[in-house]
Amino acid sequence: MNIIIVKDFEEMSRKAAHLFVAQLLNKPDSVLGLATGSTPLGLYRELVAFCNQGMISFDKVVSFNLDEYIGLEPDHPQSYSHFMEQELFSRVDIRPENTFIPSGISKDVEAECKGYDKRIAAYGGIDLQVLGIGRNGHIGFNEPDLKFEARTHVVQLDEQTIRDNARFFKEIGDVPRRAISMGIKTIMQSRQIVLLASGKEKAEAIEKMLNGNITPEVPASVLQLHPNATAIIDLAAASLLD
Ligand code: F6R
Repeated sequence: MNIIIVKDFEEMSRKAAHLFVAQLLNKPDSVLGLATGSTPLGLYRELVAFCNQGMISFDKVVSFNLDEYIGLEPDHPQSYSHFMEQELFSRVDIRPENTFIPSGISKDVEAECKGYDKRIAAYGGIDLQVLGIGRNGHIGFNEPDLKFEARTHVVQLDEQTIRDNARFFKEIGDVPRRAISMGIKTIMQSRQIVLLASGKEKAEAIEKMLNGNITPEVPASVLQLHPNATAIIDLAAASLLD
């Protein structure tokens, strides 16, 4: 795994944006894997700016998001669908029909999961996937477990993840307990992966991801096995590395 240590959130976001710009210049019809949460906000801001300057276009891009809460309508203010619309999709020239996010309100979640993987495969797989990391080492919503869950699947969110994500909701009781997430295999099949981490609350997870055993108890540790993965980590998140 390539490791790039940067000063702060801004530098992390700029460096990540440069990888995306290079990807889109090389392949304008790239399939991008996208994440939500606080971590990619700076990256999306940079990409919006590059797009507005005319340096890149999303016109031919297809995107797949990592995850979505079960039970939230797409226009719910805390749904990941709404987040993506606000932070990226409505600000660039991406075609709405080319943006995919698992449906959290599907009547048949199992079919939704299977269909999601099939659709990713039908578009030729993900060229570049961005990931954040949970304090418990999760990627997507693949929580610490006894086994790596392979494909897009339904997850029960960890108590820590529910507490961490409560900041986006009125109260902790409003945080959905379940989500749909791409699985580890889906993520690992991406041709290139960039994991971003900023802030001291991520330091322990980063240390375990890079120096610990490869184990489903630290889902991000599997990235040590990916042939083209880069972690862009700011100084605070890197503070427990030697
Ligand atoms: C979001 C996702 C999660 C987050 C992680 C970090 O789509 O898949 O794995 O990347 O929970 O969240 P933040 O960035 O809010 O610290």
